[in-house]
Amino acid sequence: MFELLHSKPLAYFGKGSIAKVNDVVGQVSGRLLIITTKGAYKRSGAWRIVNEALEDRGVEYELYDKVRANPTYENCDEAAGLGADWVMGIGGGSAIDTAKIVSVLIKNPSKKAKDLLESGFDVRGSCPKIAINLTHGTGTEVDRFAVSQSDGEYKIGIGLKEFYPDYAIDDPELTRTLSRDQTIATSVDALNHAFEAATNADTNPYSILLARDSIRLIADNIRGALDEPEDVGIREKLLFASAMAGISFDITGTHITHVLEHAISAMKPEIPHGMGLAVFLPSVVEVLYPIMPERISDILSPIVHLKGRKDEAVRAKEGVKDWLGSFGIKMHLGDYGFSSDDEKEMADRVLSPFFDRQLRCTPAKVDRVLVEKIIEGSF
Ligand SMILES: [Fe+2]
Repeated sequence: MFELLHSKPLAYFGKGSIAKVNDVVGQVSGRLLIITTKGAYKRSGAWRIVNEALEDRGVEYELYDKVRANPTYENCDEAAGLGADWVMGIGGGSAIDTAKIVSVLIKNPSKKAKDLLESGFDVRGSCPKIAINLTHGTGTEVDRFAVSQSDGEYKIGIGLKEFYPDYAIDDPELTRTLSRDQTIATSVDALNHAFEAATNADTNPYSILLARDSIRLIADNIRGALDEPEDVGIREKLLFASAMAGISFDITGTHITHVLEHAISAMKPEIPHGMGLAVFLPSVVEVLYPIMPERISDILSPIVHLKGRKDEAVRAKEGVKDWLGSFGIKMHLGDYGFSSDDEKEMADRVLSPFFDRQLRCTPAKVDRVLVEKIIEGSF
């Protein structure tokens, strides 16, 4: 049995859908807290339209724009301290995930982000929230997950039904200003969501269906987005892929590639999430391929041609690595300043009890030998 979930938020998708923000903010009662990172909310063009709608509807709001990439518990606690009746996240995963966490903390004022992410508690509600998505990577606007971190310690993601946005807007026009690196990193993030959902120990035909099409759309359109960053039609396909991958892993969750990435970006928060995933994906594909060669060869067919035989694991790894490497990104842990001296700490972090549940979703027995094999294969 599995839950045949559709997108939980009321998500407006497609070119021009940002215009719906006027109707959406018309639902806001009381004070709105807007959570975003510096710059992108204006650069993308989103703010001009959101601000007009806020003025038109006479909504009282406060702006918190200190969220950074790989956002911190401190970001969440500081924003929650401002209080609000409604919350809006404008941005990619960093802004929207912070908005989700803040929406819970405001209604549970005796708690901090660390309590929520690391221990959990009996959550007593959350503020209504709006997600204005500016990237084609995280899928957070349509899912129940949020991630935050304490630098040097842990980067943790949790899923809560209280995290679902009430309204989401996915307008490809707002993704045209993504840089080349952001275009690659966010697309690779969506690719990993799809891969981990389709290979999850708890997967189902629905997740696989969404994941398969998501990967095909990413493979077919990423180069076009790099060549023609302003092409809204191409951005729309990548955005659709990201949302479908988001729904796919909303049902099943992610597994070991995301845990590995969370381990390294707690150590080096400057590593973009999607780029960290790109480092590990080839070695993850190698270790998982013999377990489900038909499934993996099928979903990765737009990236690497495989026959679905168990003995193709190295070929699968090299095919994925060549494809990712063709975008000119860093593909090795050493490229980010890690050395073999860091291997033990990385493996310890991956095997932390915080990640037990996520690691159990990996379609292989995860022990130190397997984790070390992936890490060594990623140098
Ligand atoms: Fe991700």
